[in-house]
Amino acid sequence: MYYYKIRHYLMKILLREVFSVDEIRKQFLADLAAAKSPQEVEEVRIKYLGRKGLITLLAKNTDFSQLSPDQKRDFGKQLNELKGLATEKLAEAASAAKSGQTAKKGPDLDLTLPGTGHSLGSLHPITLVQMELEDIFEGMGFMVLVGPDVETEHYNFDALNIPGDHPARDMQDTFWLTNGMLMKTHTSANQVRTLEKFGAPLRAIFPGRCFRYEAMDPSHETTFYQCEGLVVDRDISVANLIATMKALLGEIFHRDATVRLRPGFFPFVEPGFELDLQCLLCGGKGCSTCGDGWIELIPCGLVHPRVLEFGGIDTSKYSGFAFGLGLTRLAMMKYGVQDIRRFNSGDIRFCSQFPAAV
Ligand code: PHE
Repeated sequence: MYYYKIRHYLMKILLREVFSVDEIRKQFLADLAAAKSPQEVEEVRIKYLGRKGLITLLAKNTDFSQLSPDQKRDFGKQLNELKGLATEKLAEAASAAKSGQTAKKGPDLDLTLPGTGHSLGSLHPITLVQMELEDIFEGMGFMVLVGPDVETEHYNFDALNIPGDHPARDMQDTFWLTNGMLMKTHTSANQVRTLEKFGAPLRAIFPGRCFRYEAMDPSHETTFYQCEGLVVDRDISVANLIATMKALLGEIFHRDATVRLRPGFFPFVEPGFELDLQCLLCGGKGCSTCGDGWIELIPCGLVHPRVLEFGGIDTSKYSGFAFGLGLTRLAMMKYGVQDIRRFNSGDIRFCSQFPAAV
């Protein structure tokens, strides 16, 4: 209570003696010029015209009984002018600050305009399938290797038990280069390179591009992808091969895969197989996709001892299995691509349908 009285009293003295109407006007105009945002303008209003504002108090606390009639009239006039001025300037400043704020936002944000989206790009379907396979095989302890596209006749054929006069060479129409080398016709070309480099025991896959001199149609391309797998260890048998393939297919198709082996001939495996997958669409009953209920999927077999010998492996200790997954084929199945020529078409309408990450 005392405090209030003293403060009130001091205010009276201060306002009368320290703050003249002119000084308050000057101070008010300076404060208002510095106020930019609507909140700041409001603070100025409170400071001067609020219930305890300087102008309000100046009017309230002036003891008019002490003033002569002339002084009363002058002071009252000045005070009213100041009040009028302050009210007007505050209103102007408030609307300027407000429109200044919306003007800042306005031009940048027109919600009626269509957005400018940024495309993340997408991964090629072959890349997607390859990345998925690499993840699966790495989880089973396989190395992921890359071999050259331009290969020697030795690694592509001879070291795989396909000598120059072997009819199996006719199965793979080859692009020969003028220097006697060739474009690798299958990823099996990397088998003996891998054996030479890493020896036994060994678990590796080598995805890669293959080239064949084919007439192109919806299911034939000159350039396609395979993913070779090679396992060499003690006591490797067909059982290991089947178990690995079943694990792989289960991961790819997210369900238990039923497989069967048929004899298949490839000079670099003995015995050699065609591994078929029971059709996932009809469950093996037969449908328009599979025909008889089975889909021919993975050529494979136990590595021929001659191939192991070419790779410097002791065949009295080690045996192995190999498989050659058709990566392009798998991508066609997985994404329902009807025409193999789409993959290398460079057609953005095709490529952009795939996700940007696995
Ligand atoms: N390289 C063979 C081909 O392209 C496939 C294959 C790989 C077969 C490994 C057996 C073992 O036809």
